[in-house]
Amino acid sequence: MSDKPWGGRFDAPTNAFVEAFNASTHVDARMYAEDIAGSRAHAQMLAKQDILSNDDLAAILAGLDEVEAEIEAGTFEFTIALEDVHMNIEKRLTDKIGDAGKRLHTARSRNDQVATDTRLYLRKRTNELLARIRTLQSVLVTLAKEHADTIMPGFTHLQTAQPITFGHHLLAYLEMFERDAGRFEDARNRMNQCPLGSAALAGTTFPIDRVQTARALGFDAPTANSLDSVSDRDFIMELLAAASICSVHLSRFSEELILWMSAQFSFIDLPDAFCTGSSIMPQKKNPDMPELVRGKAGRIIGGLMSILTTMKSLPLAYNKDMQEDKEAIFDAYDNLEGCLRVFGDMLPGMSVNKAVMHKAASSGFATATDLADALVRAGVPFRDAHEIVGKSVAHCIRKSLELHQMSAEACVEIDSRLRVDMVQALSVEACVAARDHVGGTAPNQVRLQCAFWENKLGEILGSNNA
Ligand code: ARG
Repeated sequence: MSDKPWGGRFDAPTNAFVEAFNASTHVDARMYAEDIAGSRAHAQMLAKQDILSNDDLAAILAGLDEVEAEIEAGTFEFTIALEDVHMNIEKRLTDKIGDAGKRLHTARSRNDQVATDTRLYLRKRTNELLARIRTLQSVLVTLAKEHADTIMPGFTHLQTAQPITFGHHLLAYLEMFERDAGRFEDARNRMNQCPLGSAALAGTTFPIDRVQTARALGFDAPTANSLDSVSDRDFIMELLAAASICSVHLSRFSEELILWMSAQFSFIDLPDAFCTGSSIMPQKKNPDMPELVRGKAGRIIGGLMSILTTMKSLPLAYNKDMQEDKEAIFDAYDNLEGCLRVFGDMLPGMSVNKAVMHKAASSGFATATDLADALVRAGVPFRDAHEIVGKSVAHCIRKSLELHQMSAEACVEIDSRLRVDMVQALSVEACVAARDHVGGTAPNQVRLQCAFWENKLGEILGSNNA
């Protein structure tokens, strides 16, 4: 004999290890509020359609309130014998209210139930992640404004390339997070359709109203195909892809913070509250938070690989393999949310060593491209200008000089077209100020971008609060 809600056709109880191995309560119990909300909407629809009596509906609604209160008070005991959140809640309800509880599962299956719960839960969590992204963007705008004029070396190949403004560098990350937000919003909007009513896979023989349940749960519409509804996990793949890309962005940012905080760079210092020391080396202050955030990308990307691999080649419709979907995305979301929170809280406390950044931008011949541009403006073809400046750099390396320190004689000796006023005009300030066009690094552009983002984020945060 089996004691399970599905035990009618079974002669023997479930193997004890299988019972534990099969259970998902440790993962899906966190969707209890969504499971109960789905049951409320389902019961209300059944009653409106005369599939359930009003007395039964009243008992179910009152019973669900009690169950929810028990879970919130921590007195509810989830048992692996009841496999998952759905059957745990249904069984408790039935223990409380009897037959009415047993009628709740009419025209429903755990297959459409889990698909609905997961969408509802991830919709809520995606909105929370989006709020974290917006907060981090606001922090970046504030910092970028403060550092619109702060000059640092820009790198390609991690070699000094051209001077840039620190504000411009920070706004590069703001753009990445904007695309991340867009990906999360797209996925959230696409998944906002209600699978409830698809039942096991083919729909139900009862005259249900799927539009009503979809509306009651804040979905845009019911899903169109019952088979697709119970076998679709695209939304989990999409959200994990969005989370993975966001974590990659955070890992790049982390890597730069770690480099910048090293003694060799000394561009920034991170607040003590976000660093830790060494148990053996007393001098150490380690950037653990960016390191950990950099590392978190590994498990989040792992979650994406896990769901893609699980879904690959699965036949329609529901298969138990799909129970593995939730662990990956819940873990990814918990960790990504932590990363975004740490960054949002840590960055305002970052101190910036402007003098060191300026000095680094002023050495390493970061102004060389601008000297070539000056020659081009005097009529020299760019390829010749490149050659002339290359020779000038080689000369300066030999003489331990910077370009702007070259003598008039040295200029003429390298090329008659190279004038000393051209080298004397070189400055990192002039370099950044000259790049004053859409997308350029000029302080002026950084301030324009900050004004744009302040406005835009103000609107987004305002409409979220409204
Ligand atoms: N715990 C299951 C899951 O997370 C719920 C759906 C199970 N359906 C079934 N027929 N076994 O996927």
